[in-house]
Amino acid sequence: MSANTDLLERSLAHVWNPCTQMKLHETLPLVPVARGEGAWLVDFDGHRVLDAVSSWWVNLFGHCNPRIREAIVDQLGVLEHAMLAGFTHAPAVELAERLSALAPRDAVRGGLEHACFASDGASATEIALKLAFHAARNRGEPQRQRFIALERSYHGETLGALSVTDMAIYRDAYGPLLSSPLLAPAPSSTPGIGQDTPCCPECVAPALAALDALLERHGHEVAAMIVEPLVQGAAGMRMYHPDYLRGVRERCDRRGVLLIADEIMTGMGRTGTMFACEQAGITPDLMCLSKGITGGFMPLSVVLATDGVYRAFYDDSGGRAFLHSHSYTGNPLACRAALATLDIFAQDDVLAANRALAARIDAIAAPLRDLPQVHGWRRLGMIWAFEVDGADAGFPRALFAEALARGLLLRPIGATVYFMPPYTLTLDEAAHMMDSTRAALLALGKD
Ligand SMILES: Cc1ncc(COP(=O)(O)O)c(C=O)c1O
Repeated sequence: MSANTDLLERSLAHVWNPCTQMKLHETLPLVPVARGEGAWLVDFDGHRVLDAVSSWWVNLFGHCNPRIREAIVDQLGVLEHAMLAGFTHAPAVELAERLSALAPRDAVRGGLEHACFASDGASATEIALKLAFHAARNRGEPQRQRFIALERSYHGETLGALSVTDMAIYRDAYGPLLSSPLLAPAPSSTPGIGQDTPCCPECVAPALAALDALLERHGHEVAAMIVEPLVQGAAGMRMYHPDYLRGVRERCDRRGVLLIADEIMTGMGRTGTMFACEQAGITPDLMCLSKGITGGFMPLSVVLATDGVYRAFYDDSGGRAFLHSHSYTGNPLACRAALATLDIFAQDDVLAANRALAARIDAIAAPLRDLPQVHGWRRLGMIWAFEVDGADAGFPRALFAEALARGLLLRPIGATVYFMPPYTLTLDEAAHMMDSTRAALLALGKD
């Protein structure tokens, strides 16, 4: 039995894969991964697959990046973990300092000076929601118990995060356990055939008018509004105009509603700036980070909070404290991985390099973009997306299989195909990504 087959059999016997109907693997084989090399995942027979989705959007600088690996190895010899309640350590302190120095700030609320650590994106969402609710209560506004989320939002799959996620596919089975957010229409357009509108300025005014109506009726009972700034990722890379975020910030301020920016996917340079909020020139009250923060090496998330939020908890009374913890809060190995990631951003001027790289990838993409079945082509920073005309329910799986057969990892969302590659992608790799996608779409078209 080959090493690949052996691993697959043992995996199916004991590993319950995430977000998967396991019976599917009776017909669709799992993909064994023996090792990672830069943008590639490699199996035991040496077959290589280009990771065009950065392994669920986490891997920024390639698999097994030596600079991040060395930082973790160094930290392993110093301190692997210590509880963060009652104790503190240099990796957590330095990371909190550096993130707040990088984060947006404004004259009204200052910066995002305080960092609450957790492990995954959803746990950051939980923290942000609890902080917003509890801050209102501590300020004498206990009636603020609701949240506003955008239609087709995605903020994670734990119960609190799922409560502000507007996706039936994830919500339906758990409906009785979830609270319902107030839903505001999303400001992004659905690109039509022949229409290349990355973000639709005309969509902003109606979406803000709807938000006004929602706030007029419910503003007094809302603790926070949560948004994915500029791109609704899981909804199909729906991109919207920064004016919407500016409008949201103003309205939240007027109504005493906190603004939570879920930058779990959009942060760490993905949209072209370190944080997507920067493109709107706004500072949220709470900002969630995860995914790329450790370059894809370790689970880590952070909620950054303004001093105003922090002060709402600072008191002699334990009852006013934020009594929330996870055993691995602020894990030093994860923090060191994040610090090494920030070092790469600074040392390699990654944001500028990505601007040049993305423009060259745009040129490489032209033959794919020109296919007649491709429409709604859009890009923001290092995210490319388009819709495929005539895609049916079986399309995502069929394209996944065709791409895989060509050495490319794609995970279409419905009719939307997207690329979110590591920032270290070479031009040859970009050509492989675009050419293989084109070939896979043409192969599907023949059926
Ligand atoms: C915007 C956003 N928020 C939250 C999450 C949840 O993160 P995690 O899967 O790490 O729990 C995701 C994951 O895709 C996301 O895209």
